[in-house]
Amino acid sequence: MAIADNVRESMKSSSWVRAMFETGIRLKGEHGEENVADFSLGNPDLDPPPEFHREIRKIIDEYVPGLHGYMPNGGYPDVRAAIASHISSEYGVNIPGSNVIMSCGAGGALNVIFKSILNPGDNVLTCTPCFMEYRAYVSNHGGVLKFAESKDDFDLDVGGLEKAIDKRTAAVIINMPNNPSGKLYPESTIAELGEMLKHKSRETGRTIYLVSDEPYRRIVYGGKPVPSIFRFYPDSIVASSYSKELSIAGERIGWMAVGPDVSETADLLNALILCTRILGFVNAPALMQRVVGRLPGRGVDIEPYVRRKNLICGGLKESGYEFTEPDGTFYLFPKAPGGDDMAFVKALQEELVLVVPGRGFGAPGYFRIAYCVDEEVIKRSLPAFTRVIKRFGRLPTNP
Ligand SMILES: Cc1ncc(COP(=O)(O)O)c(C=O)c1O
Repeated sequence: MAIADNVRESMKSSSWVRAMFETGIRLKGEHGEENVADFSLGNPDLDPPPEFHREIRKIIDEYVPGLHGYMPNGGYPDVRAAIASHISSEYGVNIPGSNVIMSCGAGGALNVIFKSILNPGDNVLTCTPCFMEYRAYVSNHGGVLKFAESKDDFDLDVGGLEKAIDKRTAAVIINMPNNPSGKLYPESTIAELGEMLKHKSRETGRTIYLVSDEPYRRIVYGGKPVPSIFRFYPDSIVASSYSKELSIAGERIGWMAVGPDVSETADLLNALILCTRILGFVNAPALMQRVVGRLPGRGVDIEPYVRRKNLICGGLKESGYEFTEPDGTFYLFPKAPGGDDMAFVKALQEELVLVVPGRGFGAPGYFRIAYCVDEEVIKRSLPAFTRVIKRFGRLPTNP
């Protein structure tokens, strides 16, 4: 079969999340869906807010000719302007509509960004644990993803990132709040990162972009503020999406926004628009653009996620698991008792509980629980978590 070598390689090391999801399908077939606790996939289970469907109906009823046709590759100008106005107040900077480009989710936006800025052999830096699809999103466009480690509490290690920067570094990508750790970086960390990148851009003589992937921005607990990268570093780009905040992951709609002070703004925007077209996206889905343009700042009610977080954190703490409580998202990233994440995940699987090993996020010794599942599933799984930690004994101090 004439499959490209690099694709064959990627198929071999295919995503752990997907691998666990597929194991889940098999186990549900063998044991019955009601007997498997599947925490493998970050697929939001809450319904979108009622106004989402209401706006779709209104748009259909108000039908205007051309509703389903192509539009400019960057998206409908009125939708871009509506989103820009919302982003401006949320991020505390003035972003014109022309700096917002509609995308097929955050995944689509990141591919467009990396296609626009990478030359063959360039690298992009990130901190582990991280969303591992970044590796493909970067290598799709000739780049290499490089890693620094986060601090013990999952905060960014700005010093570690600084050491890893070289002349081929085109960008640093961060994700806040973070999948899989749930960490929201404090503003002081973003300020330090901004200063470091200014210094390194001068030193290396090239613009190092700061790309912030923020699809979970609206799923943050206790009203904690999410820092605005635009206020701390001029060459910043935010990628976001409605997949998680409106619970519409299958609709493939998101945006990227370029900071108001980015170098050579017109060139960058033209590149992003061209790459949206030539990657074959052509434009973000027309109907979805219209809908999200009418719902700026709206999101699902996150109370169910708060209850689930409290339930799973409370239950695991009682059984002796060690973890940093998430600031946001619907993920928890505990240490794997015994230190071997693969062995631990397998033992949980024998109890029909599915989680993802930390090595799938560049952090062996941990495991990820996606608690976007019914509370009943969490309650049902807690005795299994207790049984398995007993088998593995004490936690290592440094997995
Ligand atoms: C950190 C992170 N970035 C990007 C994505 C891609 O999301 P989208 O559905 O918006 O493409 C995901 C999806 O799970 C994610 O967790």
